[in-house]
Amino acid sequence: MKNIKTEGEQQSRRKAFIFDLDGVLVFTDKFHYQAWKKIADKLGIYFDETINNRLRGVSRAESLEIILERYQGRLSKEDKLALMEEKNQTYRKLLEQMSPEDVSREVRDTLQNLRRTGHLLAVGSSSKNAEMILEKVGLTEMFHAVSDGTNITKSKPDPEVFLKAADFLGVNAENCVVVEDAYAGIDAAKAAGMLAVGIGDASAYEKADYRIQKFSELERIV
Ligand code: BG6
Ligand code: MG
Repeated sequence: MKNIKTEGEQQSRRKAFIFDLDGVLVFTDKFHYQAWKKIADKLGIYFDETINNRLRGVSRAESLEIILERYQGRLSKEDKLALMEEKNQTYRKLLEQMSPEDVSREVRDTLQNLRRTGHLLAVGSSSKNAEMILEKVGLTEMFHAVSDGTNITKSKPDPEVFLKAADFLGVNAENCVVVEDAYAGIDAAKAAGMLAVGIGDASAYEKADYRIQKFSELERIV
């Protein structure tokens, strides 16, 4: 969580962009997949990339429940916590290999151009590892605020993560544009009363206000 709102600053009329992290700014899905696959294999549960797509935007605990839909055995609350911890350890080890090269020139230039034209930028991610990822890829300084898994109680499609981001920025919801690759994220943005831009997977989602193929197209949405 990062918050730049300064006392007395009148930002409520400024336009802001709130970016999902995984699948929009960086592509960590493959690491989530590898880490969950290790858990699924250990439990003898079938798990593939299609099931992995259902984990986009949802919390770690909900992700585990989706994987366990195919599990016949019984697990206690403690067992589940241990599995989530194990998955996270594997995932964080995989994240270690990330570097600034994992952010495309197009993404970096677009973010810089949006800042230059006076927009406020925030991250709105369900991940509790968001700050580590931003640090590893050298994007921490690009954002005025970060709302992530450490400051929310409900994950997407609940609007909480985006409403908190808007609050951190000091911007009204109607002045926020959310950029998302997950259907759950588009639903969350609409529930927050924000404009929703679908990219990647979500570029096929009819509930998105804008559907884009390339990140740089954001510069036309102002
Ligand atoms: C989201 C991912 O960004 O973060 C989900 O799209 C993931 O797949 C969620 O489950 C929680 O991430 P973490 O890093 O807190 O386990
Ligand atoms: Mg995503």
